[in-house]
Amino acid sequence: MRQQLEEIKKNAEAVLKAANSLEDLDAARVKYLGKKGELTAVLKQMGGLSAEERPVIGQVANEVREFIQNELDERVNELKSSLQEAKLLTETIDVTLPGEECEVGHRHPLSIVLDEVKEIFQGMGFDIISGPEVELDYYNFEALNIPKDHPARDTQDTFYITENILLRTQTSPCQIRAMEERKPPLRVISPGRVYRSDAVDATHSPLFHQIEGLVVDEGITMSDLKGTLDTLAKKLYGPETKTRFRPHHFPFTEPSCEVDVSCFKCGGKGCSMCKGEGWVEILGAGMVHPKVLKNGGIDPDKYSGFAFGLGLERLTMFRFGLDDMRMLYENDVRFLEQF
Ligand code: PHE
Repeated sequence: MRQQLEEIKKNAEAVLKAANSLEDLDAARVKYLGKKGELTAVLKQMGGLSAEERPVIGQVANEVREFIQNELDERVNELKSSLQEAKLLTETIDVTLPGEECEVGHRHPLSIVLDEVKEIFQGMGFDIISGPEVELDYYNFEALNIPKDHPARDTQDTFYITENILLRTQTSPCQIRAMEERKPPLRVISPGRVYRSDAVDATHSPLFHQIEGLVVDEGITMSDLKGTLDTLAKKLYGPETKTRFRPHHFPFTEPSCEVDVSCFKCGGKGCSMCKGEGWVEILGAGMVHPKVLKNGGIDPDKYSGFAFGLGLERLTMFRFGLDDMRMLYENDVRFLEQF
């Protein structure tokens, strides 16, 4: 029996030395130390031994078990650390390799210019408000002195939801809403989307953006309007920029004007950007019509005001020298990346 045990020890030692995976080692553990293992099988025969032999063989058996167990533990540890080392070797990071560029998104050109305009007006004490894009006929037309049969409706055809609900054609309805909600002195701008049933071309889109402005207080005059818009033009296009006010007509302002700025590209000499004119039109404006003040619940004998409507697409196109408005909506990254 002692010989059997020595044999097991010798075999086990050899097997453990040869094992080179954790699976091999586990198989060896089962083979020698397991319940149905070789050592257990030998120990089961101990009953047949004499009383003198039993403790002696028992001791040898224990030594063999301990030996195998220690040997096994050692090999497991060895293998684990060499596996770990191999893993670390394959996973090393070369810190001298060039990094992966992390692309940061940026604002759309329309947002860049809108943010600039907002900042300029905030600097002059204006609040920024907004109004609904789905609007009542009353606010979009009626209250702005454009009754049902008024020819001004022809140039502002839009998308009707019902006979009295439509997609707003201009941000001017915000004038009435602002007057209803606030008391003078009133100084607001209201940027947002507007809609017209226009076909798409280089300068038209059925959806575009306007920025409405409204100031109402005692003693507001046309010179306040001119000063405000001249400040805007100089801040937006540079201090040399000149403004020109041409008489015009809007049903909700009296008198009304259109405002041009000297072409920032040629400085007024005439070029392709301004079509040889030296000037580009950027907005419509005027003194708020007394009827409109009344519709907004404001006494026209006590208060006066001015209003203006800027086209954000035009401002943006002039600002960046774009000749086709469609580029602003196509979301071609090669175009947008340039801003
Ligand atoms: N709402 C006008 C338009 O869309 C612009 C405008 C606004 C004119 C305010 C005067 C005053 O053409």
